[in-house]
Amino acid sequence: INFQPTSFVTSAADIRQLPADEGVEIAFAGRSNAGKSSALNTLTRQKSLARTSKTPGRTQLINVFEVAPGQRLIDLPGYGYAKVPLAVKEKWQRALSEYLQKRQSLKGLVVLMDIRHPYRDVDQELLHWATASAIPVLILLTKADKLKPGARKNTLLKAREAALVFGGDVHVEAFSSLTKIGLAQVEAHLSRWLND
Ligand code: GTP
Ligand code: MG
Repeated sequence: INFQPTSFVTSAADIRQLPADEGVEIAFAGRSNAGKSSALNTLTRQKSLARTSKTPGRTQLINVFEVAPGQRLIDLPGYGYAKVPLAVKEKWQRALSEYLQKRQSLKGLVVLMDIRHPYRDVDQELLHWATASAIPVLILLTKADKLKPGARKNTLLKAREAALVFGGDVHVEAFSSLTKIGLAQVEAHLSRWLND
C-alpha cells in the first residue's frame, strides 16, 4: 500500500463524532510526546499532515485521515500528560477503552512508546485493553535514533520479551521518524492490516 496520498478527513472531539464505523481503521495511540503525529507524517511522506509539537498534549482531538476510501488512520490524543486535569484524563481513558471495545472497523492498534522509557503504567493498561478485545497491536519504540545500535537492539529484544505478558497478537519494532529506522517494517505491517 502506498501511504503517500493520505489526506485529512476530520477532527472529532469524541468517539461519537467519528466517521461511520465501516471499512478498515488503524489507530495510533501513546503517551503525549511519544511521536504519534511524527510517525504518521513519516509514514505518509508528508511534513505536516498531522500536527507535531514540542509541547506535550498538542493533539487534543481525534484526527482522522484517509489512505484511500474505506481505509483510515486515526491519530489519537496522547495520554499521560501530567498537566491535564484528572477529570479530563479519566474521561479520555473511558472514551479510549470504549473505542477499543466497540469500534468494529478497528483492525489494528499502533502503540507508540519512547524507546528510552517503554511500558509505563498507562501503556500497559492500553495493551491489556487491546489484547483483551482481540485487537492486533504493533508497538513502536520511538525515537530509536536516541540510542546507539547496541543499546537499541538490546532494548528491542527486552521489549519483545516483555510483550509476551499481554498475550494476543503483539509485535514490537524500533522506529525513528528522524532516521526512518523501522519504517519498512511498519509499512509492511499496516499494509497487511488494511488488506486483510
Ligand atoms: P501529542 O500529540 O502531544 O500526544 O504528541 P505526539 O505523540 O504526537 O508527538 P509528536 O509527533 O508531536 O512528537 C513530539 C516531539 O518528539 C517533537 O518534538 C518531535 O520532533 C520529537 N520526535 C518525534 N519523533 C522523533 C524521532 O523519531 N526522533 C527524535 N529524535 N525526535 C522525535
Ligand atoms: Mg500528536
